Amino acid sequence: MSRFTLNDRPVAFRMDPQTPLLWGLRNAANLTGTKFGCGQGDCGACMVIVDGEAIRSCLVSLGEIEGRSVTTIEALSRDRSHPVQQAFVAEGAIQCGYCTPGMIMAAAALLARNADPSAQDIVGALPNLCRCGVYPRVVRAVQRAGRVMRGEERIAAAPAPGIRPEDAARSVPAMQAGRSPDIRE
Ligand code: FES
Ligand code: FES
Repeated sequence: MSRFTLNDRPVAFRMDPQTPLLWGLRNAANLTGTKFGCGQGDCGACMVIVDGEAIRSCLVSLGEIEGRSVTTIEALSRDRSHPVQQAFVAEGAIQCGYCTPGMIMAAAALLARNADPSAQDIVGALPNLCRCGVYPRVVRAVQRAGRVMRGEERIAAAPAPGIRPEDAARSVPAMQAGRSPDIRE
């Protein structure tokens, strides 16, 4: 049994304490925003925040997390309103998006301790690999998030997740008629 705080709630994992935190999060807690990339500490897709520090959840076991506080991307904000999330969207710092949760968690941990990082600070704090190559946009996004956190800029909130109910209602008859809901006549 491994007990710790997960997204502000006390949890007890009845898994082998040697199990990587990543598998506890994804397979037991159903927190699949934390991604599996390499499983050996190279890619950063599995980054979560533990006691304020960004760590690779594939490299620590549930037992090693005992008594600590873990935050995953699901709890960074409930509505995509964290400045890093807003800035990633606003700067288009996402292509396939697979690496994005890990980058956002690393960026959030960096900005919590330094809200005005240099490009070099950002590159140093975000060792994450991105096959799509959005690195320059990521640096811009993190700096922009810093400006938001320092109160120097506002970003309009990203749209709420999911399809709007009115669009869903419109799409059903369109699909039944064999038409795409995205095609306007
Ligand atoms: S899955 Fe953890 S660093 Fe790649
Ligand atoms: S956005 Fe695709 S791997 Fe980074």
